[in-house]
Amino acid sequence: MSILVTGGAGFIGSNFVLDWLAQGDEPVITLDKLTYAGNIANLASLQTHPGHIFVHGDIGDSALVASLLTRHQPRAILNFAAESHVDRSIYGPGAFIQTNIVGTFNLLEAVREYWNPQPEPARRHFRFLHVSTDEVYGSLDATAPAFTESSRYEPNSPYSASKAASDHLVRAYHHTYGLPVLTTNCSNNYGPYHFPEKLIPLVIHNALAGKPLPIYGDGQQIRDWLYVKDHCSAIRRVLADGKPGATYNVGGNSEKTNLDVVHALCELLDELRPRRDGQSYRTQISFVKDRPGHDRRYAIDASRLARELGWRPAETFETGLRKTVIWYLQNPAWVSNIVSGTYRDWVQTHYQV
Ligand code: NAD
Ligand code: DAU
Repeated sequence: MSILVTGGAGFIGSNFVLDWLAQGDEPVITLDKLTYAGNIANLASLQTHPGHIFVHGDIGDSALVASLLTRHQPRAILNFAAESHVDRSIYGPGAFIQTNIVGTFNLLEAVREYWNPQPEPARRHFRFLHVSTDEVYGSLDATAPAFTESSRYEPNSPYSASKAASDHLVRAYHHTYGLPVLTTNCSNNYGPYHFPEKLIPLVIHNALAGKPLPIYGDGQQIRDWLYVKDHCSAIRRVLADGKPGATYNVGGNSEKTNLDVVHALCELLDELRPRRDGQSYRTQISFVKDRPGHDRRYAIDASRLARELGWRPAETFETGLRKTVIWYLQNPAWVSNIVSGTYRDWVQTHYQV
């Protein structure tokens, strides 16, 4: 038995692969294109792990995916691979259409060909788990109830529209072909290996580098935050016991304005790595031009996952954020290799890909 993880060199995927192999011995095949967001150094500790195989490739490469499926015969595929940054989708949506929509379609086709002739009970027990986002539901007013699994899809950015399209394809492959799919829609993650273009790692990096901490617009936009390892535990629960064809919202029950998040980060840094001049990192906060089409509020109702599968997050925002800041303080080389670009050399020096 094995599982195939796509996008396993990215932020959430690498946390998932590391946690999976730390908790059991079922092998993992990681397929990752190593875009700018893929960092194989995240998986450095698995370089000699007998239960891990890394494959450099594209989910949209049907021939490659078909050969991997035939060779390794995985019992499940977990699709983390995506273009994931909203700002990049605004300035260059093409890659988002290509990977998130066309790539997911090609992946589904390769999986369907592999799965369809499988003998029972393997066919029945097979799972395709698609990792998606709360952004597909659009934006909420301040007092509106949180998104449930039956909230309408109203994506507002090229990123969320491309994720919504991929969710629809996954749903259609269940409805039309019977493929045993599961979809998770999660809120904002944070934690180790978070690429420093996203709010939390960017603020930690800029604070320590003495740079401005950019806050888009008025900073009153609200996100629900979940520690990445809790997202990974939710995915493991859904993979184990989720109902084929069902979707599950995943969230931290932790709504914060962006300004609150940045203030919390400044306080932690003031405590753990005070500035030499004795001033607070808050003095580096800088309000900048807003993101076009910026969604005002996301909130997730994850009660289905709690009720049906017994999942709850282990971390609060406070405990998770502290762990995150400590991780970044203890791993300065991880960020500086990204900022300098040397993380790209890992591919050549550490793997035959
Ligand atoms: P990420 O950008 O950090 O990682 C994406 C990974 O996918 C990278 O390793 C990249 O190299 C790889 N990849 C991109 N295109 C590929 C392709 N065509 N073929 C193979 N690999 C490819 O993203 P993330 O934050 O880890 O997000 C993972 C998934 O979770 C995404 O689907 C995202 O939409 C979803 N999600 C993210 C969050 C969040 O807060 N980060 C929240 C909810 C859902
Ligand atoms: O909600 C889940 C989504 O969360 C995922 O699907 C996406 O893949 C992930 O990137 C994330 O999207 P966001 O746009 O919410 O994340 P980001 O870190 O880019 O921004 C978080 C909020 O902070 C958002 O309201 C924009 C704001 N922001 C962001 C940056 C990078 C700033 O104010 N300043 C910044 O410099």
